[in-house]
Amino acid sequence: MTSWLRKYCLLHRVVFTVSFTALLTPSLSADNGCTSPSITTCNECLYRGPECGWCFQEGFLDGAQVNERCDIIANLVRKGCKMEFIDHPGVIVEVDTTQSSIQVAPREMTIQLRPGSEASFILAVQQLDRYPVDMYYLVDVSASMQDNLDRLKSVGIALSQRMKEYSSDFRVGFGSFVDKPVSPYINVHPSKITNPCSDYDIQCRPAHGFIHVLPVTENVTEFTRVIQQQQISGNMDTPEGGFDAMLQAAVCQSEIGWRPEAKHLLLVMTDQPSHLALDSKLAGIVVPHDGNCHLENNTYTQSSNMEHPSIGQLAEKLLENSIYSIFAVEQVQYKWYEDLIPLLPGTYLGKLLPKASNLKDLVIEAYKKLLSDVEVEVVVQDHQAHRFQFNVTALCPDGSTTQGRGKCSDVRPYQRVFFNITIGMKTCPVMEEEVLISVRPVGFNETTTVRVRPACRCGCSERGGCLDEGGPPACDDPGVTPDCKPAGANLDCSGRGTCTCGKCVCDRSGLGTIHGKYCQLDDFSCPYEQGLTCGGRGQCVLGECQCSSGWTGESCGCPASSDACLSDDGVVCGGRGRCVCGRCQCDDPRRSGQFCEKCPLCNGSCQSHWRCVLCHLSYGLSAMGAKECNNTCSSTVHYVDDISGSTGEAKRCLYPTHESCHCVFQMDSVQGITEILISQHPECFSSQRYIPTFTLVFFLTVLLGLSLIAGLKFLLIRRAQTPGESTIAVYHVTKEKSYVPTPTEKTITYRREQPPEMHIHVHKMPLNEAWQ
Ligand SMILES: *[C@@H]1O[C@H](CO)[C@@H](O)[C@H](O)[C@H]1NC(C)=O
Ligand SMILES: *[C@@H]1O[C@H](CO)[C@@H](O)[C@H](O)[C@H]1NC(C)=O
Ligand SMILES: *[C@@H]1O[C@H](CO)[C@@H](O)[C@H](O)[C@H]1NC(C)=O
Ligand SMILES: *[C@@H]1O[C@H](CO)[C@@H](O)[C@H](O)[C@H]1NC(C)=O
Ligand SMILES: *[C@@H]1O[C@H](CO)[C@@H](O)[C@H](O)[C@H]1NC(C)=O
Ligand SMILES: *[C@@H]1O[C@H](CO)[C@@H](O)[C@H](O)[C@H]1NC(C)=O
Ligand SMILES: *[C@@H]1O[C@H](CO)[C@@H](O)[C@H](O)[C@H]1NC(C)=O
Repeated sequence: MTSWLRKYCLLHRVVFTVSFTALLTPSLSADNGCTSPSITTCNECLYRGPECGWCFQEGFLDGAQVNERCDIIANLVRKGCKMEFIDHPGVIVEVDTTQSSIQVAPREMTIQLRPGSEASFILAVQQLDRYPVDMYYLVDVSASMQDNLDRLKSVGIALSQRMKEYSSDFRVGFGSFVDKPVSPYINVHPSKITNPCSDYDIQCRPAHGFIHVLPVTENVTEFTRVIQQQQISGNMDTPEGGFDAMLQAAVCQSEIGWRPEAKHLLLVMTDQPSHLALDSKLAGIVVPHDGNCHLENNTYTQSSNMEHPSIGQLAEKLLENSIYSIFAVEQVQYKWYEDLIPLLPGTYLGKLLPKASNLKDLVIEAYKKLLSDVEVEVVVQDHQAHRFQFNVTALCPDGSTTQGRGKCSDVRPYQRVFFNITIGMKTCPVMEEEVLISVRPVGFNETTTVRVRPACRCGCSERGGCLDEGGPPACDDPGVTPDCKPAGANLDCSGRGTCTCGKCVCDRSGLGTIHGKYCQLDDFSCPYEQGLTCGGRGQCVLGECQCSSGWTGESCGCPASSDACLSDDGVVCGGRGRCVCGRCQCDDPRRSGQFCEKCPLCNGSCQSHWRCVLCHLSYGLSAMGAKECNNTCSSTVHYVDDISGSTGEAKRCLYPTHESCHCVFQMDSVQGITEILISQHPECFSSQRYIPTFTLVFFLTVLLGLSLIAGLKFLLIRRAQTPGESTIAVYHVTKEKSYVPTPTEKTITYRREQPPEMHIHVHKMPLNEAWQ
């Protein structure tokens, strides 16, 4: 499958699916467009933007300012408004699938839009193979066109023959135009009015705005007969009244005889440019064209009363009546029309050679080109266009997309063109009425009608309750018992509001919202969690979080139940710890993991080899003991060497706890046993927290402790000399049962102009300190 074909298939399926988006992505920040002290009603709130909603829940943020009811939805919900009490009309796109069509789908849809929001939908358009075709010759019959008129007499039949190849049913009609029959366009001398050509001894007929001569017919004989009867006319100025005539030919549907199922071709033959709207002022005509059909006895009657149509007006009428225009103009004026073509949708411009010799080919070429261009135009009814914005993107059968322009060229019959149309509403219509928007494929007899339902009014205004309390309470009865402080409190309204008519009206704060019956609540003075006061899981009461049920902790960040700490066997933290804030806190600091199940250092730690060490001790470090104990100890435990120094005899027992991590026991006949951890492995760090708790009774005095320091220092120096190993921490075991660090306070003074004092708490590490 080629890529465009895949796209086709993909899109074929999404024709009736719709997407809708909001122009603004709602954010949780307090600075959003919805919050403003000036908002007092729900409707004002909706106008702020598509992300804003209004909470009409009774008692919502009791005592707070009324504008607090307007916010983005997520914030309202967080502040405690229930979803069903939030007025927030969204974007709704409904496609009417009952009306189907092969050419244009869908045909009808309804879109609900908020001011500032937009909606997108896909429109599919395809040309059929053969259409009935109605072609109307609109011919400029001013004197200079004599040659062309003569040519038409013969071309009619030939063209009808050729068009049979492209059309199932080809019909032709005819009309003529000159100019507005008023001065200064024509010579108004009485002798010239009836025969404008009297100076040249030629008989010609009076100038006219537009005369509809032959309704669209399949009788080509009749067409030829009518052409033969045509006489030329004359006028004074160069431009002619072509646009006046085109508009009549377009809008006088029944008179012209345009068939609804046919393609409508309006062939304009002229050798001059056309007058435009304001030109008519020259003749004192100031009434703008009303865009309607004014034919009486097949003559355009308002020629002398109404201005020429503007280009925009003409374009709109051509589009509305699904008319393709073909301008067959002479060389001289080609440029003038060329500039005009982009302004008129569905038009083709061809150069007419002398004596209209190429007319037949020009029409055929135009017809093929016009049908191979598929284009849509969006038309808004009733001057509401400025309230909307559109974005049309065409997805062409060849796989290309044209952004911001709804046109594909070289489309063959039955190839589908998809248009992604986005409609955005900038402001609400004054009466908030439904607005009709037509999406018109150019030249097609079918259009898509989009009914835009503006959502500019709150639903609660019908139900009542948009503006219940929240505002200052009405003070009808001055004798009300004030209820502005809870029993036992000193301050009215917690000192953050005024007691008005017995009820609190809370102060406005730049920091956030103060609310509550006694203004005791707010949304800024409590601990934050994930950017929200009390983690959004509790109320902030005078600086302290009152957590919703199920939550606990200073900022309500902790689940109240310990369910999350239950290990598979249903025991809290596997019995190895306590549940703190929904997480296991292990009793043994070496342990980790969700349920304290991990302990890389527990087994094989130095501690578990105490027995080996004790064994050696019991043999008094004799050779015999070494032999005995080697057998009882794990084979991985080694004697490393003897340390016989100033402190007496010492033995060391080395045990690799894991890679690059060793325990070293040092036995000293005088001091007892010291455990030393030597490490290069990060995991060894965790064992730093390990405070030995086992009991060993050795006689040890403070004096001896001092000599131990000396021994360790010596050891360290030796270790440092050994490459590849480094000492991370040293623990020593004394006869004290446990070792509890005590905080101590140090005062560090920096020398500056005004030396500030800094108090730093450090843990007392007597041994380390000695080395510093
Ligand atoms: C076609 O027009 C001619 C002359 O106008 C007329 O004689 C003839 O009957 C018409 N034919 C049809 C089929 O109407
Ligand atoms: C539009 O034209 C097509 C093809 O000629 C025809 O089948 C259809 O009925 C026409 N629709 C209307 C509304 O006239
Ligand atoms: C239209 O024609 C009828 C009869 O042919 C005539 O009575 C009437 O005055 C004409 N109207 C105009 C505006 O020429
Ligand atoms: C139209 O849509 C295209 C692509 O989706 C985008 O690049 C362009 O900015 C839009 N134009 C307007 C006016 O919204
Ligand atoms: C249509 O255009 C809108 C806006 O440019 C875009 O968000 C949407 O995804 C498009 N839809 C399709 C089917 O391309
Ligand atoms: C230590 O490891 C041994 C086997 O290597 C095992 O039997 C024992 O249960 C482990 N002890 C602990 C506390 O994990
Ligand atoms: C202790 O065992 C190790 C091997 O496990 C051995 O190399 C060493 O010689 C033994 N020492 C004694 C005293 O037997």
